[in-house]
Amino acid sequence: MSEEQLVLQETRGSVAILTINRPDKRNALNGALRCSLLGALDAAARNSAVRAIVLTGAGDKAFVAGADIGEFEGRSPVDQYRVMKQPTVFDAVERISKPVIAAINGFCLGGGMELALACDIRIASTSARFGQPEVNLGIIPGGGGTQRLPRIVGLGAACRMILTGDLIDAAEAFRLRLVEEVTAPDALMPRALAIAETIAAKSPVAVAAAKEATRAAVSVPLDEGLKLETALFQLCFASEDKVEGVRAFLEKRTPNFPGR
Ligand code: COA
Repeated sequence: MSEEQLVLQETRGSVAILTINRPDKRNALNGALRCSLLGALDAAARNSAVRAIVLTGAGDKAFVAGADIGEFEGRSPVDQYRVMKQPTVFDAVERISKPVIAAINGFCLGGGMELALACDIRIASTSARFGQPEVNLGIIPGGGGTQRLPRIVGLGAACRMILTGDLIDAAEAFRLRLVEEVTAPDALMPRALAIAETIAAKSPVAVAAAKEATRAAVSVPLDEGLKLETALFQLCFASEDKVEGVRAFLEKRTPNFPGR
């Protein structure tokens, strides 16, 4: 299978839909797929027509069922060190300045869960199942799960998932605030796209600054986060988007943001 086919890329209006496409292996992340996903994210980042991204899995069984376990067999610590020195899909999703919405349509396990954790907003279908089952394999989460999961659901709920490896259903994920919304399976993509389109209609400069400032809330001390917010707030005053947004409000019309 070619790299392009491992991640399907479709653009609908201002929204890029990236579909992880290895359904026969429950969309497990192998090296080629990670590479393809990094390329697709980079392309979306560079395309000024794209203002929001929806990330999902192909088929009706899985979002992503984790790292490709077959690749672990025989891998030495040095091999693994080299793999982890490469740019990761988790960091790429978190750092891209455009919002990424996870549309979670089935098993969301291990590295798949960590990919979802790196996204900005998570919407799940009622068929989604979540887990960090790495302990079953004699390893631990290595894509940020031990750090991002406690920041989202709290320490106790994260420990329960990471130490037991037990899966939870969509209702429990919603209760834990691991996902923002749960939909019927057929409503998942329409809802994820509706959220993406709402964001895509806003100022891209403001959305990027808002993502950066808000995400900093869980990684830096309060005083540093407040300084970052102030700096980004002031930066917005240098944008054409701010000129257009304020003028459109005063003229009682819908703004047409240039994205600069
Ligand atoms: N890595 C590699 N292959 C995987 C995989 C993974 N993480 N998850 C699923 N697959 C493969 C299976 O080996 C199987 O391949 P095969 O048809 O060549 O035998 C195929 O995907 C379908 O999986 P199967 O287990 O038959 O489907 P299921 O619907 O009964 O169960 C899961 C789905 C996701 C519950 C189950 O496959 C599973 O537990 N996967 C591993 C999850 C995991 O531990 N992830 C963390 C990795 S660090």
